[in-house]
Amino acid sequence: MLPQSVLEQIRTNRQRYLQELSDFLRIPSVSTDSSHRSDIRKAAHWVFDRLTRLGFESELHETERHPVVFAHRLAEPALPTLLIYGHYDVQPPDPFDEWLTPPFSPSIRDGYIYARGATDNKGQFLTYFEAIEAILGANEELPINVKVLIEGEEEIGSPSLGPFLRGHLKELKTDAIAISDGSQFASGIPAITYGLRGLCYLHVDVQGPRFDLHSGSFGGLVANPVQVLAEMLARLKNRDGTVAIPGFYDDVRVLEPLERQEMDDLPLNENELKEYLGVDELAGEADYGPVERRSARPTLDVNGIWGGFAGEGAKTIIPAKAGAKVSMRLVPDQRAATIDELFKDYLHSIAPSSVKIQISEIHGSDPVLIERDQPAMQAAAKAIEFGFGKTPVFIREGGSIPIVGLFKELLGCDTILLMGWGSPDDGAHSPNERFSLEDFHRGICSAAALFYELAESFKR
Ligand code: BES
Ligand code: MN
Repeated sequence: MLPQSVLEQIRTNRQRYLQELSDFLRIPSVSTDSSHRSDIRKAAHWVFDRLTRLGFESELHETERHPVVFAHRLAEPALPTLLIYGHYDVQPPDPFDEWLTPPFSPSIRDGYIYARGATDNKGQFLTYFEAIEAILGANEELPINVKVLIEGEEEIGSPSLGPFLRGHLKELKTDAIAISDGSQFASGIPAITYGLRGLCYLHVDVQGPRFDLHSGSFGGLVANPVQVLAEMLARLKNRDGTVAIPGFYDDVRVLEPLERQEMDDLPLNENELKEYLGVDELAGEADYGPVERRSARPTLDVNGIWGGFAGEGAKTIIPAKAGAKVSMRLVPDQRAATIDELFKDYLHSIAPSSVKIQISEIHGSDPVLIERDQPAMQAAAKAIEFGFGKTPVFIREGGSIPIVGLFKELLGCDTILLMGWGSPDDGAHSPNERFSLEDFHRGICSAAALFYELAESFKR
């Protein structure tokens, strides 16, 4: 049980925790943008310093791109060990104009803190640091051994973290892993996530003539790359919303009736969702419910498309090139490497010889499922119940955390506790991203309780 004195610490220090989160959110640690390299380093150092101040033995590990911060505070060898994972990098903030207050000037309105990275993921992993501070501040020792791994490349597919894991298998050895980088099922309905989708992200280039041509002089003679690309992209999906790539569904595991029932029973309010999204109709595979579609069915989306003239007025050209970014969310037992190949084979097979096509992979990760029936899950459920005042539901998430598959594979640890403190309407990756101050506080309480619940559950 969490000592009362720890809870008092948490309550007393609420304002300071918020100040600290605010300071951290000021650092524009955008991982995909090389112009933010020094900000990324600033954020890594911020995490390193914070952990050092908590009495952790910390290390800032350089990688090919962005530093990994690894730290530990070992209480006693006999106690169980928890590894906390999070990411200090954030998505690009654009479109800038849509932010009511600037993305890196945290602003507090109506019980939320607004800033890029507030929920994804700075505010969420910081809860563990505050929880640890509260325990130590109450003159308690941590009831378990704690290791912390915070990276700066999650939003770009974690390319350097795999090599880091491989090089530090012994140091990373753990009994359980806690990750708060997702959300509750809905605001006020806390959840434990036992599944994440995988991801394939590809870039398609179509090259037509050597340069943009006068569409009068040459129209009727050459293929138009924008038109060709549009037609090819249209052929990636069938009219019913299914993906048209041959073999795409071959390895998709069909849900057991019980699991499907459980998803259908989750209280998803379609009207509220439509209103939040600003759409009149939801779309997707007609044979599956919305919860299943967004978490346990694979999808394909065009993330962006460009080519030709989009300026003011008219310009009569046949563009020389066109491009698109396409991603696919994967579910068990699809594999990213296999789907990449199927995608490329199919696009090449439908590409006309009047243009040149180039397809490159940007990143990929495999889907993950975690065994729900294990004592640590019960410990997590109790901790969440303590912090949020409600029993969590079990859900699969539609998003991806690329490293989780490798945690299972390389660290041999299947006790991965995915506990999102945020809410689906926090606007992760969108303008006006936010994190509820109440959820921040509940997250800190849950994180603190988790240490004690885990200590208990491993004793049994
Ligand atoms: N926090 C998300 C993952 C997530 C999203 C979990 C929604 C649960 C629900 C994470 O930071 C993220 O955005 N991941 C990317 C991974 C990609 C860029 C490799 C994603 O899912 O798009
Ligand atoms: Mn993200």
